[in-house]
Amino acid sequence: MIVNKAKKILIDGGLVIFPTETVYGLGADATNEKAVKSIYKTKKRPTNNPIICHFYNLKEIEKNFILNSKAYKLAKFFWPGPLTLILEKKKMSKINPILSNNTKFVGCRIPKHPIAKKLLKNLNFPLAAPSANISTKLSSTNINHLSKIFLNKIFIIDGGESLYGLESTVVDVTKKNAKILRLGSITFESLKKIIPNIKIQKKQLKKLSPGMMYKHYAPEKRIRINVKKVFKEEALLNFGINNLSSKVMELNLSTKGNLDEAAKNFYNFMHILDNSKSKKIAVAPIPKSGLGKAINDRLVRASSIK
Ligand code: TXA
Ligand code: MG
Repeated sequence: MIVNKAKKILIDGGLVIFPTETVYGLGADATNEKAVKSIYKTKKRPTNNPIICHFYNLKEIEKNFILNSKAYKLAKFFWPGPLTLILEKKKMSKINPILSNNTKFVGCRIPKHPIAKKLLKNLNFPLAAPSANISTKLSSTNINHLSKIFLNKIFIIDGGESLYGLESTVVDVTKKNAKILRLGSITFESLKKIIPNIKIQKKQLKKLSPGMMYKHYAPEKRIRINVKKVFKEEALLNFGINNLSSKVMELNLSTKGNLDEAAKNFYNFMHILDNSKSKKIAVAPIPKSGLGKAINDRLVRASSIK
C-alpha cells in the first residue's frame, strides 16, 4: 500500500524518502529534470556533486550503460548490495544529465533492501537518490534521524534500522585501473579479492566525487578523533574495552570490538551524541582495517574544520 503511494508520487515527479540496506535515500525519477533539481534544492546540495541512480536489476542498467569486464565482475559478485559503480552512459539513455554534472559517467547501484526493491519494481525509470540528509550533515539510518526540514514536506517509507549503517562503496571502473572513490559498506579487502589491483583514490578530486572531500558526514558539535583522553565537556563515542570515560555521556560502538556492529551503530550514535547535552564529542581510536577504514574516513571528514 504505502509503496504504491510512494510510486505514484515518484511518477508524478515528487520526492520520496525510502530505506536501503546502507542509509535512507531521498529519491526521485532520474529521467525527470525537474524532479532531480528538487533533490538538489531540498538537500541544499551543490549541483556539481553527482547523484547515484538506483536500479531494479542488471538488465535495466545494461539498457542505459556500457559495462566492461571489471564492471561485470563486480556486479556479479556484489549486486544487489551496497556497491556503487561509476559507469559510462549510452547516448540513448534518458537519465537526466544534470544528476551527473553533465558528464556521461553515472554512479549506479542495485539495492537489496526489500522495500527499495519493491519500490523499484515495475517503475519505468531508475531512482536518483542521494542519502536523505542535508548536504554535509550526518546520514540517516532510521527515520528519527531525518532533518525536520524534510518531515512535513516529503513522503517517508519507514523501514526501521538500516542493515549496514554506512553508505555504499563507490568504485570507478571506467578507467584502466579500478579506483575506490568513496569507502563504504563493502571493504577494500573484499574488493581486492575480485579486482586485485584496485586502489583507493587518495587525491581529493573535487570534480569527481565531492562527497570525498572537505567537511562531510558531520554532526553539529565539534568532534575530536583518536582521543587518548576525554575532556570535561565531551561526550565519548567509544570502541572496545579501554580506560576512556566521559563525565557527560558514553556510547560504545562495539564493546566486543566488532567492526560490523560499529558500522551499524555509527550514524545512530553520532545522532544521539549530537542531540545530547554535551558540548563536544570525543571519539576513541578505531582500527583502520576492514570497515574501520570507512568509519575512519567518515570521522576524518566529520572532524575537519573546513
Ligand atoms: O549507500 C548509498 O550510496 C546511499 C543510498 C541512498 O544508496 N546514497 C548515497 O548517496 O550515499 P550520496 O549522494 O549521499 O553519496 C554518493 C557519493 C558522493 O560522494 C558522490 O560525490 C559520489 O557518490 N558520486 C555519485 N555519482 C558520481 C559520479 N558520477 N562520479 C563520481 N562520484 C560520484
Ligand atoms: Mg551523502
